[in-house]
Amino acid sequence: MDRQRVGVVGAGIYGYNHLKAFSTCEEAELCAVCDLNPELRAKVEAEFGVHTYESVDEMIEQEHLDAVTVATPDCYHKDPALSAIRHGIPVLIEKPLATTLQDAREIIAEAKKYNVRVAVDYHKRWDPASIAIKNRLADPKCGAPIRGYMSMDDIIDVPTKWFKWSNNSSPVHFLGTHCYDLIRWYMGCEVTQVYAVGHKGYLSSLGADTLDSATAILTFENGCTWTVENSWILPDGFSKNNDGRTQIITEHELLRVDSQYRGVEIYNEQKYGTPNYVFMQEFNGRAIGFGYNPMYDFLRCLRTGEPFLADTTDGIEAEKIAEAVHESIETGKTVTIEREKSE
Ligand SMILES: NC(=O)c1ccc[n+]([C@@H]2O[C@H](COP(=O)([O-])OP(=O)(O)OC[C@H]3O[C@@H](n4cnc5c(N)ncnc54)[C@H](O)[C@@H]3O)[C@@H](O)[C@H]2O)c1
Repeated sequence: MDRQRVGVVGAGIYGYNHLKAFSTCEEAELCAVCDLNPELRAKVEAEFGVHTYESVDEMIEQEHLDAVTVATPDCYHKDPALSAIRHGIPVLIEKPLATTLQDAREIIAEAKKYNVRVAVDYHKRWDPASIAIKNRLADPKCGAPIRGYMSMDDIIDVPTKWFKWSNNSSPVHFLGTHCYDLIRWYMGCEVTQVYAVGHKGYLSSLGADTLDSATAILTFENGCTWTVENSWILPDGFSKNNDGRTQIITEHELLRVDSQYRGVEIYNEQKYGTPNYVFMQEFNGRAIGFGYNPMYDFLRCLRTGEPFLADTTDGIEAEKIAEAVHESIETGKTVTIEREKSE
């Protein structure tokens, strides 16, 4: 099997996972990495032995790539994605597809014009717990879903220390879109109405001009209502970088998921930790876990022609919900999500 030549744009915290995936998997040859940061480029060259570039266009023109992945900050996915698309190269874009509907629509329009396939990395769909819920909801014994709750919260280090760009994102874009995507996938239908409230002030007082927390009530076409809570202000002392819960009441069952406690506990002098070993780890020279599987599936779908599990339709639907959540928080009103026939 010929290895697919892959280039990665963005070698920060999450882009590093792309580098690990493509440098250890049999389907790929990690050929090149593009990042604006010269220190990161030097580090990546030393660790992975790849060519690095400051310009996406130059990387694509020099490297004869079969695929590009984009792991730039939430609000800067569009330009690298458009570079790849305009060179006719398929792209995997980190979630969220974009932080505005306008950017999302531009990516989709160019992908259509250049007939290029675009996947979106909504990796929670690959979590074995999510797959179990998806399969359970599809079983007629479960009955129709009536009400759901999902939370996903990050520690405060994420907006204050990990990123310089949290002012240009929000817990809605960074975390909420994961939830909106997963719930759409569970429900198999779209959101029609959104009402949301939010809290701002604590992070602003620390210099990050972004929401602390958002609570959204989503009404789906099947009549099921969901409450979704997202914040990025959990204390640093929390046993993991994030917390997450799901509860679904159906006609005949109650389904619950604890995404925080995965069964492994580590104690040391400083901290009690509950790491998520099903997400990402290295074993036998391979990067394994559900966090890497969307990257491997992207290459597999390119080779086989199968549809992506999460594509630009999923990307834009999550973004419509995110925009509606922000609008509802700002106006205090319920927002109806309109869909054009072509969307
Ligand atoms: N950190 C996480 O836990 C996590 C988890 C899942 C998904 N993601 C997603 O991955 C994406 C990247 O997040 P991150 O945590 O790696 O951020 P990060 O800030 O650590 O890294 C972003 C990198 O992109 C580079 N960059 C910015 N604009 C660029 C451009 N035009 N061309 C080339 N390089 C550019 C920056 O120099 C930086 O190194 C985000 O969309 C995020 O939502 C992050």
